[in-house]
Amino acid sequence: MSTTADMIGRDEINDLDAILAITNTDADALIHTVADNADAIFTWDYEKGARPALNKLYEKAKGAQWNGETDLPWEIDVDQEALAAATVGDGPEFDLAGTVLESWGPKEWTEFSVESQNWTLSQFMHGEQGALICTAKIVETVPWIDAKYYAATQVMDEARHVEVFAKYLDDKLSGHYPINAHLKMLLDDIITDPRWDMTYLGMQIMVEGLALAAFGLMYQITEDPLLKQLLRYVMSDEARHVAFGVLSLKEYYTELSTPEIRERQEFAFEAAVRMRDRFLQQEVWERMGVPVKEAVQLVNLSDEQQEFQTLLFSKIVPNCKKLGLLDAGDGWLRTKFGELGVIHYEDWVDTGEEYESLSLEATAESA
Ligand SMILES: [Fe+2]
Ligand SMILES: [Fe+2]
Repeated sequence: MSTTADMIGRDEINDLDAILAITNTDADALIHTVADNADAIFTWDYEKGARPALNKLYEKAKGAQWNGETDLPWEIDVDQEALAAATVGDGPEFDLAGTVLESWGPKEWTEFSVESQNWTLSQFMHGEQGALICTAKIVETVPWIDAKYYAATQVMDEARHVEVFAKYLDDKLSGHYPINAHLKMLLDDIITDPRWDMTYLGMQIMVEGLALAAFGLMYQITEDPLLKQLLRYVMSDEARHVAFGVLSLKEYYTELSTPEIRERQEFAFEAAVRMRDRFLQQEVWERMGVPVKEAVQLVNLSDEQQEFQTLLFSKIVPNCKKLGLLDAGDGWLRTKFGELGVIHYEDWVDTGEEYESLSLEATAESA
């Protein structure tokens, strides 16, 4: 069993100095190489539909392909600054007198909001590339033909997601950010692990579970009709991807021993902490030229932001529960998710079936 320091590199999960000390040290490099340590597995069992739930997902995915170039209304003109100003107003509701942000008025808060959007969409784009690489790895490593078929459709989905986020950033927003160091550590850990089910747990359950919630929140908030539609399309795919993780792991985890399940619980916890750390947006504050730690404490760690951020775990926790990870062993992950303040989502809807209601067909029928 691992200590907290073994898992996340620090003893205290809320040690802000330790979190902020992790920065991206090769932000100017054009490529980043990671050893993926895995065997490519052939299977000679070609029986299609031996896993009916995966086969059903595969058939759905074949009919749900869209074209990022032609299906989205790219002709829409996006006034990023006006949209940001309308959202952010005069800044947060709470009192900033006597703090490093005391002098900020609407101009600074709008600039911050613009940078924050550039940062957020950049991280989405980098995360999507992580999904592209992880899913290509799953095609190689998973031993079941139905899963290889489905994963192949997901590779195409992820290529499209990287493509549309990159295009939106280039054509409609005002700058890119390099990958956040915490997100990068997480993606590297997922890709480095040789066990095929760990790719699923890290990517389909944790990263994509969080992405599905984050896209859903942004979908509700954004006033830009192009971004709204882009997110709606991506979410329809993303819900299928998370379902792919839940359905595959549910079967596999029944074969694992208690110590093996504990390793999965620890990996889920590590991933949750990394994703939470990245939401401090430290690179944005750096670019705004204010003391990072103070600004993070004032804004990102404010009660309202914290409450908003726990919503990002509203898909992950029920899916971990469905997989039996919350209560296995001595309920270790339940305790850890309690410490992170996200356990209250355990009975929200899981994503094993939810993808049907998020499909583009379902939207067309209800419109
Ligand atoms: Fe994606
Ligand atoms: Fe995905």
